[in-house]
Amino acid sequence: MLQQETIDDESSTDAETLTDQTSDDSSVSAGPAGTTPPAEDEMLGVEDLTAWFGDNEVLHDIDMRIPKNQVTAIIGPSGCGKSTFVRCLNRMHEQVSSAGIEGTVRLDGRNVYDKAVDPVLLRRRVGIVFQEPNPFPTMSVRENVLSGLKLTHSLDDVDQDALVEESLRRAALWDEVRDKLDAPGGDLSGGQQQRLCIARAIAVEPDVLLMDEPCSALDPIATARIEDLIDQLREDYTIVVVTHNMQQAARISQWTAFLLMGELVEFGDTDQVFTQPRDSRTEDYITGKFG
Ligand SMILES: Nc1ncnc2c1ncn2[C@@H]1O[C@H](COP(=O)(O)OP(=O)(O)O)[C@@H](O)[C@H]1O
Ligand SMILES: [Mg+2]
Repeated sequence: MLQQETIDDESSTDAETLTDQTSDDSSVSAGPAGTTPPAEDEMLGVEDLTAWFGDNEVLHDIDMRIPKNQVTAIIGPSGCGKSTFVRCLNRMHEQVSSAGIEGTVRLDGRNVYDKAVDPVLLRRRVGIVFQEPNPFPTMSVRENVLSGLKLTHSLDDVDQDALVEESLRRAALWDEVRDKLDAPGGDLSGGQQQRLCIARAIAVEPDVLLMDEPCSALDPIATARIEDLIDQLREDYTIVVVTHNMQQAARISQWTAFLLMGELVEFGDTDQVFTQPRDSRTEDYITGKFG
């Protein structure tokens, strides 16, 4: 595939440089508390990532290995840098004029910040879904699904009907919209619109789906449907979900990262982070002492 070649064509030895801390139980001084997924599971490798807006440094020296086909939750109080972090993973951060970044985000052994990487193609491999469902309201359901693909490709050789159906099925929306593919996206309910946005993200065949508080604008029933969907989607995609809802993080993720004022305080197996946090700040946060 086009984007695959563009990002993959140089192999790199960087993959060895992110140290495996699995056996290090006392990692208090170097890096975050907790454990790290094994190197062979890596989908994204974040190293020494620092990001800022103007002179406000909002992420400090983050190291994190995000494992394939699992759900990684990013938690932490408002303003701690969760959105900035995920936006650094697909180079959306740099779209803000005052924004800057240093460090490495490795995808298939290649730094996505290399000059040769086309950010538009990168964003096809690392898609994003936002808090407020944002389908094109007057565009049909079907056109919404195809809209991401149209940005970079001619659809002449694509079986559009099959792609629309497959993407909507994967987003668990097909049965509800199969008879209204020509209706405007804006006619759907909030939860359906969010699944339409997920279908649009899936249609370009990404490897990674970033979701920035994907349920915050939804009611509990719509939220439960998205949570179930996230669990199904991880069979095919690597998922990074920002959530301010700790119960949700505990329900849907295998790995949890706790950010505080731009620092990655703790990263580890979700059960461990919620039942036996290793940093007292994590414990204070998950027990509701602040946040
Ligand atoms: N577009 C922007 N311009 C300037 N500062 C920003 C911008 N977006 C976020 N920030 C600042 O960056 C910090 C981290 O914000 P953000 O990543 O949105 O946190 P979170 O998602 O955890 O609430 C905050 O201090 C916020 O005010
Ligand atoms: Mg945010």
